[in-house]
Amino acid sequence: MIVLGIETSCDETAAAVVTDAREIRADVVLSQLDDHTPYGGVVPEIAARAHLEHLDGLIRRAMAEAGVGFGDLDAIAATGGPGLIGGVIVGVMTAKAIAAARGLPFIAVNHLEGHALTARLTNDVAFPYLLLLASGGHCQLLVVEGVGRYRRLGTTIDDAVGEAFDKTAKLLGLGYPGGPLVEQAAARATNPGRFALPRPLVGRPGCDFSFSGLKTAVRRHVEELGAPLSDADRDDLAAAFQSTVAEVMADRCARAIARFKADHPQGGALVVAGGVAANKTLRARLQILADREGLPFVAPPLRLCTDNAAMIAWAGIERFRLGESDPLTFAPRPRWPL
Ligand code: KG4
Ligand code: ZN
Repeated sequence: MIVLGIETSCDETAAAVVTDAREIRADVVLSQLDDHTPYGGVVPEIAARAHLEHLDGLIRRAMAEAGVGFGDLDAIAATGGPGLIGGVIVGVMTAKAIAAARGLPFIAVNHLEGHALTARLTNDVAFPYLLLLASGGHCQLLVVEGVGRYRRLGTTIDDAVGEAFDKTAKLLGLGYPGGPLVEQAAARATNPGRFALPRPLVGRPGCDFSFSGLKTAVRRHVEELGAPLSDADRDDLAAAFQSTVAEVMADRCARAIARFKADHPQGGALVVAGGVAANKTLRARLQILADREGLPFVAPPLRLCTDNAAMIAWAGIERFRLGESDPLTFAPRPRWPL
């Protein structure tokens, strides 16, 4: 089975060709970073126009790299939401047009399900597994029982973790997108233990997250230190923020693991997904936790953590082989909980 995947829900235009043998035949991503950087964040209108301008060319490139024509495809999968609606419309309409012209099945994929199932594309992960979904818009702990079967154990009560990285980067004068820049600054820190930051909800029952207090604490330090921050101050603060986030995530995951084990005595992997899963400090911290708990730990390769179309093609394959597809009347969804 060969499926073309399309992703346009945020600021990455992406197309990929993936097979049901878990082979990524092509995976092209065009970041719109330069278009949005002057505004310090993603501008929905600019994103939608850029998707429209580039998507056709990207699909052509992905198919050429994969060495396939439309006649070789078994289905087309596109992100149907959640996301910035202008971009989602571009991807869905393009996929529907190809599907209609070629008489191919169309699958509308939930972007979060794309992240959630990525580990099954890159690794041999069986259901059930415990998933930490950590991205720019979401921060959730889920038990993945099967395709389309998700049980939420916890979520953020304020900011998503990627959002916290992005806002902290702004406070530190690091620019956008914040995650990778905070990670790089933290790696340069000469005194990473210098600042102690609060660890919201750590030790409390439940599996929810909170990051706004942490961000406020960073702001207070920045104000006390006075602008402009020295490089050393900035890097030490970035390191404090990053290690605190890793501690908070590990604490919440430890609680989720206890509940997961109680419900599933046969066990299962601890899986991390979403853009923030690219963070090496977080990955290392979760590996330690999984080792301690006796669970396998699975983190997709870095480039498949951040937004891409291979995960959309793969989620499409997972649904399609269960006999699922969507009508061409499918309406793009700005919100779509898992
Ligand atoms: O999954 P993703 O690409 O898009 C969404 O679906 O939201 O996640 C993007 C988020 C951004 O907030 C970005 O700052 C964060 O992931 N991110 C990182 C890293 N790379 C991307 N956060 C921490 N460390 C990273 N290396
Ligand atoms: Zn995403």
